[in-house]
Amino acid sequence: MLKQRYSIIWDCCCDHGLLGMSLLQRKLADKIFFVDILSPQMALLEKDLHGRFSGDKANWQVICQDLNDLEVPEVESQLFIIAGVGGNKTIQFIESLCAAMPTLPFDLLLCSVHGNYAVRKVLIEHGFFLKEEQIVFENNRFYEAIYVSQSGGQAIAATGSVMWDKVNPKHQQYWQKTLDHYRKKAAADPAAFGSIVADYEALLITG
Ligand SMILES: C[S@@+](CC[C@H](N)C(=O)[O-])C[C@H]1O[C@@H](n2cnc3c(N)ncnc32)[C@H](O)[C@@H]1O
Repeated sequence: MLKQRYSIIWDCCCDHGLLGMSLLQRKLADKIFFVDILSPQMALLEKDLHGRFSGDKANWQVICQDLNDLEVPEVESQLFIIAGVGGNKTIQFIESLCAAMPTLPFDLLLCSVHGNYAVRKVLIEHGFFLKEEQIVFENNRFYEAIYVSQSGGQAIAATGSVMWDKVNPKHQQYWQKTLDHYRKKAAADPAAFGSIVADYEALLITG
């Protein structure tokens, strides 16, 4: 999904840092920051990076702190990757980053473990546009990889748009699962979830 080079890529909530390390190997940025709140894990990662990338020490840095408190340099061409956390946390991080950079456009690559409809709504509110999106099926779970930019692209649809392949049985399964989930929620709270059900029904990804 990532082809473009950036000045800075942030591997946010990086845990073992595997994603950021693969980007370091591919030399996709001048600098890669690894950020996570867990200090023992960050100490291990720092050691691991020294072992594997000692020659490229200027190209990476480990930061142990809450992503919501991140101080971001005034540099153009920055990408923040946030993967493997829930929808509410992802939304909180997007809000924090937008507050930290009110006038500097940036890109995001998101892969939330759920709550993508609400995540996309927040992206739309904050002036992001779609670069690319994909449905990912891994370890028997569905994810949505959402790559967006404040510098232009296609309009974002809250349900996802170009990622859906109507003849792909896995996509049909994911659509049905998502629809069932929101129908259950709408049965308990029609005012909050009725329109979400209607949006997914309108997609009609069925065999
Ligand atoms: C399941 S791991 C995701 C790892 C990796 N991004 C992936 O997709 O495989 C979630 C990580 O988020 C980190 N995390 C949770 N809240 C955070 C916060 N407020 N600031 C920074 N990191 C946070 C946790 O410490 C944990 O390492």
